[in-house]
Amino acid sequence: MTKSFYLTTPIYYVNDAPHIGHAYTTVAGDVLTRWHRQKGESVWFLTGTDEHGQKVMRTAEENNTVPQLWVDRLVRDAWKPNWDALNIANDDFIRTTEERHTVRVQKFLQSLKDSGHIYEGKYEGPYCVGCEEFKLPGDLIEIDGQKCCPTHSKPIELVNENNWFFKLSGFSQRLLEHYRANPDACAPESARNEVIAFLESGVSDLSISRSTFDWGIPVPWDTNQVVYVWFDALLNYATAVGLTDTPDSEGGKKFASTWPADVHLVGKDILRFHAVIWPAMLIAAGIEVPKKVFAHGWLLVGGEKMSKSKLTGIAPKDITDHFGIDAFRYYFLRAIPFGSDGSFSWEDMSARYTSELANDFGNLVSRSAAMIEKYCDGRLPAVSHDVALEAELVKAVAQADSAICALDFQGGILAIMEFCKTVNGYVTEKEPWILAKDPANESALNEILYNTAESLRALAVLLNPLMPSTCEILWDSLGAQTVLGDLSAQKIDDVARWGQLPQGVTVTKVASLFPRLEDNV
Ligand code: ME8
Ligand code: MG
Repeated sequence: MTKSFYLTTPIYYVNDAPHIGHAYTTVAGDVLTRWHRQKGESVWFLTGTDEHGQKVMRTAEENNTVPQLWVDRLVRDAWKPNWDALNIANDDFIRTTEERHTVRVQKFLQSLKDSGHIYEGKYEGPYCVGCEEFKLPGDLIEIDGQKCCPTHSKPIELVNENNWFFKLSGFSQRLLEHYRANPDACAPESARNEVIAFLESGVSDLSISRSTFDWGIPVPWDTNQVVYVWFDALLNYATAVGLTDTPDSEGGKKFASTWPADVHLVGKDILRFHAVIWPAMLIAAGIEVPKKVFAHGWLLVGGEKMSKSKLTGIAPKDITDHFGIDAFRYYFLRAIPFGSDGSFSWEDMSARYTSELANDFGNLVSRSAAMIEKYCDGRLPAVSHDVALEAELVKAVAQADSAICALDFQGGILAIMEFCKTVNGYVTEKEPWILAKDPANESALNEILYNTAESLRALAVLLNPLMPSTCEILWDSLGAQTVLGDLSAQKIDDVARWGQLPQGVTVTKVASLFPRLEDNV
């Protein structure tokens, strides 16, 4: 059985509709998994929703409804349609209220109890419902004399309960050794350093159940308690692919072909949960830990993390209505180094839209197709081979592939857009519109037009993971579908092989890929 490239996004809280921070992570995951599919790998891409816990429960109450109805409605009306609109090609969508999840969480928990990793204790201390996290006194900041969560700037609550505890403290040494021996297991470097420092400072045991409310998965041996929402949520990555199922069952086989996950993509806000608690849970159960946890930075508003709780979220639609879906998918990965924080700016996005997408890419497509229509009756001339362009393409593909596989989206996109600029320079320098004035130049003209079209073929393949709808239009315009098949079936490893478009295919002009933006919106 071939092992899948298995990538997950966080499962988001459904206390409200998604904003561009959630879209940032999910689009990144979509681009990376589309890239790996085009590398010919078997891919599994999971996203979903985190539906238990006090945050969701209270939001439902504030909206005069019960949690299950609240989450059902938001998932149906906001979350799923949002991912469809952004062209996210996830293979599965897990909700933590689904039976496939709750049953497996209970089985997993029972097995940890049976193997002696869980004990009864008393938790007394601060809790932030926004983070759904037990806090250490040293984590807190003071606002107007009150102890507050530094992320949510809201007063913490004091919890005082008899709970079940997971012996997390027993795993810090194993985890330290793991991250020292496998530097790739937590990235970027700043995230790894944070995790190592946190582990070195000592980790205490973790309360994994709550007894003062009932919106959660019942603890199997003590149904007066529900499982702590993070303990439930982290398991989604494994329950979705069959954790705890017998090896010969469908779930067991799925688990064997996906686990361990290749990348858990998360924001840096939830790094510790993923790089400390989650692998400890897995080690305790004798299951392999994920290969990589990658924590990207935050989209900021006024210097602070954009957030649902603070009502600073910008809906993806507010941006896509103006710039289009593919420009949205492009912009954040292009503008912000993956791993650093960044601010969204309407002006910056407009500027990049115009210079990089409309001018560098869109215009190249429209002027090339227009010239083939005008000078060659829309038929692609004989195959020709510009060695210099080909060499630039080979270089761009190698750079883009290694950057994107290392989650350096900006580096990967730049390598591809650099090639786009090279092709523009080629056309500008060769001046085919001047050559066209004299029939004696026909073969020189044809060579330029062929090499330009062939370059566009490669650009369509390379940009497809990032901007699938736009590249589909380009693919059609090049007449490539009928001779080369589906765009998404084109392989990265083969994209630099020159001369794939045959002579004679019909090239057609298309409406501008990136139309001029309306002013003053
Ligand atoms: O933490 N900038 O869910 P959540 C960039 N349910 N990314 C952002 C962002 C921002 N301003 N705001 C949110 C939870 N994100 C848990 C996860 S996983 C087992 C459980 C993205 O709704 C980013 O990926 O608070 C961040 O980690 C995630 O949304 C948090 O979403
Ligand atoms: Mg959050």
